[in-house]
Amino acid sequence: MAEIKLLTEHYHKPEFQTLDGYKKNGGYDVLKKAFKMKPKEIIEEVKASGLRGRGGAGFPTGMKWSFLPDNGEPRYLLCNADEGEPGTFKDRLMMERAPHQLIEGMIISAFAVQSKKSYIYIRGEYTKCLSVVRKAIKEAYDAGLLGKNILGSGFDHDMDVYSGAGAYICGEETGMISSLEGKKGQPKLKPPFPAVQGYLAKPTIVNNVETLAAVKYIIRDGAAAYKKIGTEKSAGTKLFSVSGDVNKPGTYEVPLAYPLRDLIANECGGMKGKLKAVIPGGSSAPILNADESNKVNMDYESLAAAGSMLGSGAVIIMNETRCMVDMLNVILHFYHHESCGQCTPCREGTGWLEKIVSSILLGRGRPQDIDLLDTIAQNMKGRTICALSDAAALPTISFVQKFRDEFEFYIREGRSKVTGQPIKRKNIKGSHHVEMHH
Ligand SMILES: Cc1cc2nc3c(=O)[nH]c(=O)nc-3n(C[C@H](O)[C@H](O)[C@H](O)COP(=O)(O)O)c2cc1C
Ligand code: SF4
Repeated sequence: MAEIKLLTEHYHKPEFQTLDGYKKNGGYDVLKKAFKMKPKEIIEEVKASGLRGRGGAGFPTGMKWSFLPDNGEPRYLLCNADEGEPGTFKDRLMMERAPHQLIEGMIISAFAVQSKKSYIYIRGEYTKCLSVVRKAIKEAYDAGLLGKNILGSGFDHDMDVYSGAGAYICGEETGMISSLEGKKGQPKLKPPFPAVQGYLAKPTIVNNVETLAAVKYIIRDGAAAYKKIGTEKSAGTKLFSVSGDVNKPGTYEVPLAYPLRDLIANECGGMKGKLKAVIPGGSSAPILNADESNKVNMDYESLAAAGSMLGSGAVIIMNETRCMVDMLNVILHFYHHESCGQCTPCREGTGWLEKIVSSILLGRGRPQDIDLLDTIAQNMKGRTICALSDAAALPTISFVQKFRDEFEFYIREGRSKVTGQPIKRKNIKGSHHVEMHH
């Protein structure tokens, strides 16, 4: 497949981080082009491009924008830069290497949806992003690219940065809105969707960093050119954050539908060791075994057909040294810790799953625990306010289904089938009991 770089074409140039350097590479030319279009034309172009949200759910961006009610109320644009999904680090790269690319994409998007105020919600741990983006926003204001009557277009827009405090749940759009309003970052039941009733109960569009940056390239090249990349239902390029047992972990931009095995072989410099399993779309995505990984393409439909999902584009690659009982425990520990506690299936279920897998790791597993894990997880799916409960349930179901032998071995022998030893980690629930046995 041909190499196509849209978003990351200039990322290797340090000058791309500054307004002057960005402008030297065509920066803000697309904004000028957008201002010659009607806002509705931009929305139509984004719709026609087939762009789907890059934050996890893959919802069509143009369609989301067209849900805004025409009621004369102020509208807000929120850039979701919380990037909390374990394994994801693409948005950080995008903000650090090309803050103006995001700002330009956001002004174009804000003009399209006629929003006069936007916020970039950046996770608090991303201190470098926070300062790079703040500096770029100041440069943009000084150059008349933000504020009143931008480039003489008659369009006014103000942009601000908001620093989160490192709660995964603030990445969920309604949780993010509550957090921005100064309340507890807890998700709310939908509908109403944010597009109808969001920030300060006003119509609000929440989009991921990569989504908003991609809008610039759709307007630059036209919807038809963008749609030619990838497949009919998965258009454009996608940034993947690849971590784990490969020679060159990192962030790579490839056309959607790129084969996973090529991503590992070409972009990531091949495997370290032998491929055992891949989580293709962040820790909430069902796991694929080696056989499935070797066959699948990285697009929304292919991954769904393989029983997993594209999610946030965090590709976690594991070799033969990884114990699946241990991996599942790490994932469950995260989701239990991050559950906001509003819904019983999530609050209780994530803890229960973590406890069961911990007890297996501690050599106290019972044969019936494997089916119990599946039953609990099945009952956590689709019953809660937000998708965090599913994010714990889906990996559990897939790990147990595809690597059942490792769970059975551990329960029988009290040690890992992979390492031959009991797994010891500090955060295994009740690990002090292990010390008592010794
Ligand atoms: C628990 C949870 C965490 C999420 N975290 C993020 C995140 O860190 N970044 C993000 O862009 N979307 C995240 N999302 C998805 C957002 O709710 C929302 O769908 C997304 O920001 C919309 O942007 P998009 O349409 O451009 O993808 C999360 C969703 C859930 C349920
Ligand atoms: S599913 Fe979990 S994280 Fe989401 S609202 Fe319910 S309790 Fe909170």
